[in-house]
Amino acid sequence: MRINLADKPIYLTEVGPRDGLQNEKEIIPTEVKVAFVNALSRTGVSEIEASSFVSPKKIPQLADSSEVFQKIERVPGIIYSALVPNAQGFERALEAKVNKIAVFTAASETFNQKNINATIAESIERFKPVVARAKQEKLPVRGYISTCFHCPYEGKIAPSAVIPIVQQLLALGVDEIVLSDTIGKAVPTEVRTLLDAVLKQLSQERVTLHFHDTYGTGIANVLAGWEYGISRFDASAGGLGGCPYAPGASGNVATEDVVYALQNSGAKLSVDLNQVIAASQRIAAHLQKPLPSRVYGVYRSKN
Ligand code: HMG
Ligand code: MG
Repeated sequence: MRINLADKPIYLTEVGPRDGLQNEKEIIPTEVKVAFVNALSRTGVSEIEASSFVSPKKIPQLADSSEVFQKIERVPGIIYSALVPNAQGFERALEAKVNKIAVFTAASETFNQKNINATIAESIERFKPVVARAKQEKLPVRGYISTCFHCPYEGKIAPSAVIPIVQQLLALGVDEIVLSDTIGKAVPTEVRTLLDAVLKQLSQERVTLHFHDTYGTGIANVLAGWEYGISRFDASAGGLGGCPYAPGASGNVATEDVVYALQNSGAKLSVDLNQVIAASQRIAAHLQKPLPSRVYGVYRSKN
C-alpha cells in the first residue's frame, strides 16, 4: 500500500555548526560561527545544533560554545540545541540557555571508548543524571547512537547491537533517537533493515536519521528513510562534517542536497534552498577547501 508521504511535514535539524565545524582543522573565529548560525536561522530549518558542551581538550574547535550561544540571534520557533556528554556539559549548556540537549553514545564499544572514553554501559550511567536534570528543566533530549551500521574499528554492526541501546535510552527518558551512520557507509537496504527492527520499539515520529555521505549513498538513505515514514533528518550546510574520532568519515549529507531531493520528490519541507546556499557561502569563505554539496556545486558553477 502506498501511503501519502507528502502529508507529513519534514523536520530538518541543521548540524553544520556542530558536526561540520568540529571536524575542521583550523579553529573558526566565534563571530564567523555566530554569523553562520544566524544565516541558518533564515533558511526555515526547524532546529539548529549550534555547538557542543564537550571537553575543549577533545574538541578545541568548539571550545567557544557558551559565547556562540550568547551571541546568536535566536529566531522564535527555532530550537537551538547542543551536544552534552556529561553533567559538567549539562550545567554549561543550561547556563547558555540551550533549548534542547543531545546525549551521545554508540553501538560499537571501540568507537565509544575513543569518542567519549566510556563503555556503552558507562555512558548510559553517565546520562542518567543528565537526562533527569534536563527533565527538571523541561528541556527535550535527543539520544544519538553512533556507528549504527558500520564502525571504523569493528566493521559491520548488526541491528541486534543497536536495539538494546535504543531501549536503554528510551528507559532513561530520551525523547528522540538519532540513528547515525557515523562513517557514511550504509546503503538503503541496511537502513530499511535497521528501521524494521527499531520501529518495533518506538514510533516513526521519535526517530531521526543522521547520515554521513562518505560512499555517496547519503541521499539514497534519506529517501529510503522517508519512504519508510521517517520525517526527521539531520543535514549539514554545504556537506561539512565528520567526527575526529571516526577516521575516514566524511561530511554529513548536505542540507542543500537533502532539500533538493525531498522537495522535488513531493515532500512537505519548507526550507529555502537559496538561503541554505547563502549560509554555506558564508562559511565557505572561511574554509580552505571546497564544499562537498552537489547542489551547492551546481550553484557555484552557474554564478
Ligand atoms: P574524559 O577524557 O573521560 O575525562 O572526558 P574527564 O571527564 O575526567 O575530564 C577530563 C577533563 O575534561 C577535565 O579537565 C574536565 O574538567 C574536562 P581537567 O581537570 O583535565 O582540566 N571536562 C569538561 N570540560 C568542559 N565541558 C565538559 C567536560 N567534561 C570534562 N563537558 C568526555 C569524557 C565525554 C567529556 C570527553 O571524552 C569528551 O568531551 N568527548 C567528546 C568527543 C566529541 O565531542 N566527539 C564528537 C561528537 S560525537 C559525533 O560527532 C557523532 C555524531 O555526529 C553522530 C554520528 O555521526 O555518529 C553525534
Ligand atoms: Mg555525525
